[in-house]
Amino acid sequence: MALDEFTPADHIFENEEVLRDSHRPDELLERDEQLSEYQAALKPVIKGTRPKNIFLVGQTGVGKTVGTKLIREQFNKDQQKYDHIDVNFVYLNCKKLSNSYRVAANLVNKFRPEDDQITTTGYPRDMIYNMLYRELRNTDHTHVIIILDEIDSIGNDDGILYELPRCNDNEEVPPEDTYVGVIGISNDFTFRDNLSARVKDSLCEEEIHFPPYDAEELARILEHRAENAFVDDVLDSSVPRLCGALAGQESGSARYALNLLYKAGDLARSEGTPRVSEDHVRRAEPLVKENKIRRELERLPSQSHLTLYAVLALHNKDKLPARSLTIYNAYQTAAEEVVSDVKTQRTIRDRLGALQLKGFLTMTRENRGEGGGRYDLYDFGEIEISMIRDVLANTDRIDELFPNK
Ligand SMILES: Nc1ncnc2c1ncn2[C@@H]1O[C@H](COP(=O)(O)OP(=O)(O)OP(=O)(O)O)[C@@H](O)[C@H]1O
Ligand SMILES: [Mg+2]
Repeated sequence: MALDEFTPADHIFENEEVLRDSHRPDELLERDEQLSEYQAALKPVIKGTRPKNIFLVGQTGVGKTVGTKLIREQFNKDQQKYDHIDVNFVYLNCKKLSNSYRVAANLVNKFRPEDDQITTTGYPRDMIYNMLYRELRNTDHTHVIIILDEIDSIGNDDGILYELPRCNDNEEVPPEDTYVGVIGISNDFTFRDNLSARVKDSLCEEEIHFPPYDAEELARILEHRAENAFVDDVLDSSVPRLCGALAGQESGSARYALNLLYKAGDLARSEGTPRVSEDHVRRAEPLVKENKIRRELERLPSQSHLTLYAVLALHNKDKLPARSLTIYNAYQTAAEEVVSDVKTQRTIRDRLGALQLKGFLTMTRENRGEGGGRYDLYDFGEIEISMIRDVLANTDRIDELFPNK
């Protein structure tokens, strides 16, 4: 086949970068209330007193990460005017960190120069915490605010969320050396609900909820982005509204809405149509939906991957729907093969709950009649099982369970 010529000419996009997830908008629309709550929670810091610990929760794509980054930038700009504070915001994305130990070790390295990094395995746990406290004590900053994004990855192993928020109180890091504050961010409501009471008390001094966007909010966000992204007048005026409506129905995620608009433009470009129309949006939707589900599956914590694997194994034996105990037994077999830490039945029941909330599994509650109690039965939902299989077979470590991939 004769290949098309590569040319920079583009009749649809002025600057498609603006529609990518990596693009940082310079303001966050439709989030005034949440951002002022957020700023209020940081008030003690700018006053030079002890920070409050903050927990940010809300579904995926609702501006938690980008909002945090904008707040941090604003704070850094404003704090230059004052001599009494010197605040260091330390951002860590915990996506790939499956326990408190790894989070602590990665934090230690955030304070160290390139050539003095520690290995992130192998130390006794106490020693890692002590190393972290030492870094916090010795820093020249008045405050260190540690931002732990996607913190749900650590699952039940939430010790760090107990240790860090109280390190000023127990004098591990005396407040006169450094004030320490923690901002935890999560899109997993089950994780928040299952935090132990002791963690909840200290971490969630301020809880800020980012709700999903509605169709109109999404349409306004898209219209704003479209101004710089598209060539003038190529977008049918109803397109942002339709993307907003579809994304609003789907989940209220701005990421999803932006992906939809981007994909619609992309289709128009590759088909050589002069304008982006509703038809492009409708055809873009199934593609974007599938991508989103795949991405969410890929991003699940490893214990959730193993739990899904167990459900898949039961599906292959025609044993679905299944009770959590049956799934747990299948999980144990798989977990013993690929990871060292096999979790308790309770943890896996929580993972099943989280998977159900995210729509990867369905749950029905059965009553066994008088005095028989109730039990829950899990099954796959509407998502294609072949996709789940494909993602698991290409996930680090879990892939070992698919010898004939
Ligand atoms: N109010 C908004 N205005 C403009 N863009 C937004 C807004 N909210 C979110 N976005 C965009 O949507 C995308 C997702 O936002 P963000 O990464 O902050 O989501 P999140 O809440 O952290 O999601 P997750 O839980 O998946 O990490 C980003 O590209 C971001 O720029
Ligand atoms: Mg985020």
